[in-house]
Amino acid sequence: MLKALAQFTRTLVSTNSPYDKFRAGQANLTVEELEGMQLFITHPDPGRNLRGGNCGDCHGSDFFTLQQFHNNGLDATFADKGRGAVTGKATDDGKFKAPSLRNIAVTAPYMHDGRFKSLEEVLDHYNDHINYASPNLDPLILEASNQVKGKSLELTPQEKTKIITFLKTLTDETFLQDERFSEITTP
Ligand code: HEC
Repeated sequence: MLKALAQFTRTLVSTNSPYDKFRAGQANLTVEELEGMQLFITHPDPGRNLRGGNCGDCHGSDFFTLQQFHNNGLDATFADKGRGAVTGKATDDGKFKAPSLRNIAVTAPYMHDGRFKSLEEVLDHYNDHINYASPNLDPLILEASNQVKGKSLELTPQEKTKIITFLKTLTDETFLQDERFSEITTP
């Protein structure tokens, strides 16, 4: 049964989103989507006037995850220790695997406990509500700011919206509507 399930999950491959068509040179993205993509992949460097949301530091590559465990600053104490509950190491407490962001616009609620109802809430978290008292907070988040010596990410509201606009290009309607993955069994 495990092998059958493993084989089935390997067929769940999403490669037909507007982002994928753009990457394949088959379609264009809008200016706003492209600006959002740039912000998504860029680690900010205010000294060089380089603005970014640093999302790609953990949600990088065409998988939109680098498959690593991180504490992305949700809590100061952990109801769920995440990776720490598996390894037994205090230095892993509060770390979770960065998930892929493919089809993310249709899979709310977000985070391991579903605390955020929308992508707007997710962006507010990363930009305005990182819990700096959180043990093992990821250095990639700690040092990322768009202001020289800035404490938080400091994206503008427009920049947050652009990142969300980009995330929506990862929605793959062909995959989502694929009858083979539907609950309805076709004769
Ligand atoms: C330091 C690594 C790191 C950075 C930087 C980061 N994330 Fe995450 N992200 C994570 C981890 C780890 C999780 C899973 C947390 C959990 O399950 O509680 C996550 C979860 C998410 C989720 C929810 C996924 C789901 O299916 O519930 C979204 C959406 C998301 N991140 C978007 C972003 C965006 C947008 C940015 C940039 C503004 C960003 N992330 C920056 C590590 C990171």
